[in-house]
Amino acid sequence: MNIRPVRVDDLPGMQACNLQNLPENYTMKYYLYHAMTWPSLSYVAEDPKGRIVGYILAKMDEEGGEEAEPHGHVTSISILRSYRRLGLAKKLMVQSQEAMATIYRASYVSLHVRKSNRAALGLYRDTLGFTVQDIEKKYYADGEDAYAMRLSLKS
Ligand code: ACO
Repeated sequence: MNIRPVRVDDLPGMQACNLQNLPENYTMKYYLYHAMTWPSLSYVAEDPKGRIVGYILAKMDEEGGEEAEPHGHVTSISILRSYRRLGLAKKLMVQSQEAMATIYRASYVSLHVRKSNRAALGLYRDTLGFTVQDIEKKYYADGEDAYAMRLSLKS
């Protein structure tokens, strides 16, 4: 399995992967916005035939204006079911985090995750060392709460 930075022609494959894996979906315009604005923060995992089996869609968070600490944000990550538990998501997260820190001087990375998402919580908290910053009530469209999580990128 190969991991590489996203290209514009990957975006339909990323979107297809997202639609299979998650109820949080995005317009093509939003994928394009990520890929064009922060091309080094989003990555795909592809099989030997070049089919996209996973992705990370990430950005720099622009909230808070110029005074705010620069920080990255993971908009979405997912891996097709038959390619899970191979370490792909961990690799995608680490690649993106490294680019956030080195290229954009991000001091931390943030994300939201459903309280019930055991696999993702295992990845973020147990494998990567994220901590829960806050609980955002009814963050998701179906009313589920989100954990707002963060990982410091200061070495
Ligand atoms: N149960 C418990 N822990 C898990 C699980 C699981 N099912 N899956 C992964 N982990 C943890 C483990 O600690 C694992 O390390 P280990 O295999 O050495 O025990 C570690 O995460 C790394 O696992 P990876 O193999 O890198 O994870 P994978 O490639 O399987 O992808 C993911 C994990 C992205 C959560 C996958 O299960 C998935 O696509 N789920 C559906 C989509 C989703 O929930 N995405 C996250 C939404 S939140 C957001 O996008 C910001």
